[in-house]
Formats: sequence, structure tokens, C-alpha cells
Amino acid sequence: MSLFITFEGPDGSGKSTQIKLLSDTLTASGYEVLTVREPGGTAISEQIRAVVHSLRNREMSDRAECLLYNAARAQLVDQLIKPHLQRRDGIVLCDRYADSTLAYQGYGRGLDLAAVKSVIAFATLHLRPDVTFYLDIEVEEGIERRKRGGGEWNRLDDQAVEFHRRVRAGYLQMVREEPERWVCVDAARAVDVIQAEIWEVVSLIVR
Ligand code: TYD
Repeated sequence: MSLFITFEGPDGSGKSTQIKLLSDTLTASGYEVLTVREPGGTAISEQIRAVVHSLRNREMSDRAECLLYNAARAQLVDQLIKPHLQRRDGIVLCDRYADSTLAYQGYGRGLDLAAVKSVIAFATLHLRPDVTFYLDIEVEEGIERRKRGGGEWNRLDDQAVEFHRRVRAGYLQMVREEPERWVCVDAARAVDVIQAEIWEVVSLIVR
């Protein structure tokens, strides 16, 4: 069987740590695991990432931003995600996916949600995740962790706190609207507690 799992939530919520732990567990169980991140994952998508995240591109319009994330996504879907899901026992773990566009460009920037959804459908050819984990933390805590973490500080991180509040509210709304796909995880807890909660869900699907 193939399985497409995505992770959403702010940087600092521990997404990458949890993805690595889940990937190790699944690989040890004999699955072919592909781990990718958005925006990025292919040479073309990484070039788009550099443009869309550059602090020098402050004049970028919201629609251009939305389309660039989706251009990067279309390339990733065609080049890596779809081919991997066609393999026997192919599992794809993706650090952010289409829901990030709905949260940041839709709820955050205020672009029309129906328009954003149709752009996403075109970019992904309607490929949707089987399960999406939302690693939830308070907005202020997320910003603190991003600053402490010392990783990339990009154009999106640089938005006002109200923007990040709208993004989080958007995620929580999506979780409520589609509970059969979303799993909301309290990311303020210890790494091993979160890991166990995620494995509880995934192990039920793969076994
Ligand atoms: P990144 O540095 O990859 O870190 P993290 O995923 O851990 O936050 O940042 C990706 C940024 O891009 C993040 O601020 C969210 C933003 N983003 C969008 O606004 N729309 C999108 O469609 C995607 C994929 C990401």
C-alpha cells in the first residue's frame, strides 16, 4: 500500500524532528519512505523557494506568492511525490503541503479561499494527503522558538503577529472542517509523547 502523510504547523513546532522519527520507524518496518519539504525538494522548487522567501522581495504580490508556492509544489508532485506513491509500499512524508497555502495565503493574506483551492487543485492534480498532522503551538511560543532556533528567518516569518494568529486560526478551522483527515497534536509536550501519539495513528493504517 502507499501512503501520503503531511505535517503542518509553525517552524519550531518540532515538525522536522517528528518527521525524522516517523521515517526511521517506518523504514525499520520495511517501507520505502520519501521525505520532502515544501517549498523545495527538487532543484527547480528550491530555486523558487529562494525567490519566494528572500527578504529582498518585499514588493511581491500576494497572488504571485501563492502561485510561486504552487509552482514549486507542481514540480515536486510530478517529479517526486507521484512516482514514489506508485511504488509498492511507498510512503511519502511531506513537511508542509497544500494546506500551508490555504493557511498562509488564504487565511493569512486574505486571498479568496475558493480561488486558492482551485490553484492548488491544478498544481497537485487533486493529489491530497491521506493523513495530515497539525502540530499546534501558541503563536507567541512559535515565534519565540523560531527566533531561538536560529534557522532561516524568511519573508513569512517576518509578518506581524496578527498574520500568524490568522494562520493558526485558519489551521484550526481546517482541522474542524475535515476531522477525518486531520490529527491535531499538542506540540508543547515532550518529543517522545508526541512521537507516540503520531505512531498510534500511523501504525493503525500501515498494519
Ligand atoms: P521553512 O523555512 O521551510 O520552515 P518551516 O516549514 O519549518 O516553517 O518555511 C516555510 C515558510 O513558507 C513558512 O513560513 C510557511 C510558508 N509557506 C507558505 O506561506 N505557503 C506555502 O504554500 C508553503 C508550502 C509555505
